[in-house]
Amino acid sequence: MLKNSQDTNKTGNVAIVIGATSRIAVSLIEDLANDVRFTKIVAISRQFSDKAETSFGHKVSYFQSDYSEKSISKICEQLRSHKGKISRVFICNGILHDSHLQPEKRIEDIKPENLHKVFEVNAIIPMIWIKFLKPVLANEQGCVVTVFSARIGSIEDNRKGGWYSYRASKAALNMLLKTAAIEFERVVKGTRFLVFHPGTTDTPLSKPFQKYVSQNKLFKPEFVADQLLALIEGNSLDKSIQFYGWDGEEIPW
Ligand SMILES: NC(=O)c1ccc[n+]([C@@H]2O[C@H](COP(=O)([O-])OP(=O)(O)OC[C@H]3O[C@@H](n4cnc5c(N)ncnc54)[C@H](OP(=O)(O)O)[C@@H]3O)[C@@H](O)[C@H]2O)c1
Repeated sequence: MLKNSQDTNKTGNVAIVIGATSRIAVSLIEDLANDVRFTKIVAISRQFSDKAETSFGHKVSYFQSDYSEKSISKICEQLRSHKGKISRVFICNGILHDSHLQPEKRIEDIKPENLHKVFEVNAIIPMIWIKFLKPVLANEQGCVVTVFSARIGSIEDNRKGGWYSYRASKAALNMLLKTAAIEFERVVKGTRFLVFHPGTTDTPLSKPFQKYVSQNKLFKPEFVADQLLALIEGNSLDKSIQFYGWDGEEIPW
């Protein structure tokens, strides 16, 4: 069993946050920066300039990435300097809508280019990170890799239908992660995966759909970040991969 809280009781821990402008990621970075057990937080986003300023001094390092394989492999090469200390990775990227695409209500709404885009952001980019992180995490003990998925990606839980590309891309992400976890169990033994559903959270991603959600079910990013960190600390991650919600409940695959 992975004793997560024991692993981070030592100081000098490093956390890596990818997709770091996500509102939930911003709250995670703040929590981690205020945690004395962490000495470095590496934050990565499309949206940072190389000289991004931080209110946390040198504790947070900012990297810009266009999420191409070239950029991801280059950053992972630099992350090797933290080998032996990386105890947390968070991959927060996700897209539901943008100026060109909206979640599909009916099968007639499916457009190949939108399916490609949503799969690229929600399933492919996270896996490219995991591919290049594999050698970086090879000898870590007690590292938890959290990837933001969504309950809507649960095949068993699909009762309402709709939102084809978002739903299917998160289901694909879950399967890709489960497959990676089986491989890591053999060769990157100290790493566990947490597939995380944050619940409906007040961020740009959910903004257009919040009118359908009751106020007590619309969470603040700070609350979700606290729930996630408590879940990781809670010693319940005793398998190579688990799919959990913000409330600590396991979600069927
Ligand atoms: N909010 C919710 O209600 C909710 C519910 C279920 C699941 N989730 C999941 O939670 C995660 C975090 O979402 P959030 O609610 O915090 O959303 P958010 O604040 O809108 O953040 C969007 C995230 O997606 C990345 N992203 C957006 N467009 C991208 C693109 N074209 N290419 C690469 N990356 C892109 C951003 O990375 P950069 O920093 O690089 O821009 C950022 O990490 C997502 O995976 C989402 O699917 C959210």
